[in-house]
Amino acid sequence: MSKPLGNIWSAVVNGEEKRLDIAQTTRLVDVLRSHLNLTGTKVSCEVGRCGACMVLIDGEPVNSCLIMAYQCEGSEITTIEGLHGEQEGSLHPIQQAFVEEGGFQCGYCTPGMVIATKALLDHHPQPTQEQIETGLCGNLCRCTGYGGIIRAVCKASESSEETKAI
Ligand code: FES
Ligand code: FES
Repeated sequence: MSKPLGNIWSAVVNGEEKRLDIAQTTRLVDVLRSHLNLTGTKVSCEVGRCGACMVLIDGEPVNSCLIMAYQCEGSEITTIEGLHGEQEGSLHPIQQAFVEEGGFQCGYCTPGMVIATKALLDHHPQPTQEQIETGLCGNLCRCTGYGGIIRAVCKASESSEETKAI
């Protein structure tokens, strides 16, 4: 049986061009997790409320459970796997800050938190408390009470010129 609406979807994911034969109505989160095996992007609420599935599309944070493949055709998509330090395989300064400041417990929200922080610091390298709260308002954490997360964002902002470059 032929697939309805199926055709070649392409986008740049973590710096590499990807071409997939998928239904254009496939959600981006399913493209990432099921077709590209990028399971660092998490799924929880599936209705845009928790931020666990957050990725960057052309530099902007987007909940990948809410966007269809056709809506990001040709875009540049960055997932948590696409962030790293100066060398491939090393921690990105934001990830390092989360480790050092206890910005996670179970870790389920952490990929989304790190992606949201990347977007925040790209726009506001030295964010105010209000900008941090606004920047992370779409990301929920059931474990940490947010204290460690806020400290991690502040620590990462100290090296935000570096984080922007990666
Ligand atoms: S799983 Fe996408 S916002 Fe919660
Ligand atoms: S560390 Fe568990 S949900 Fe945030």
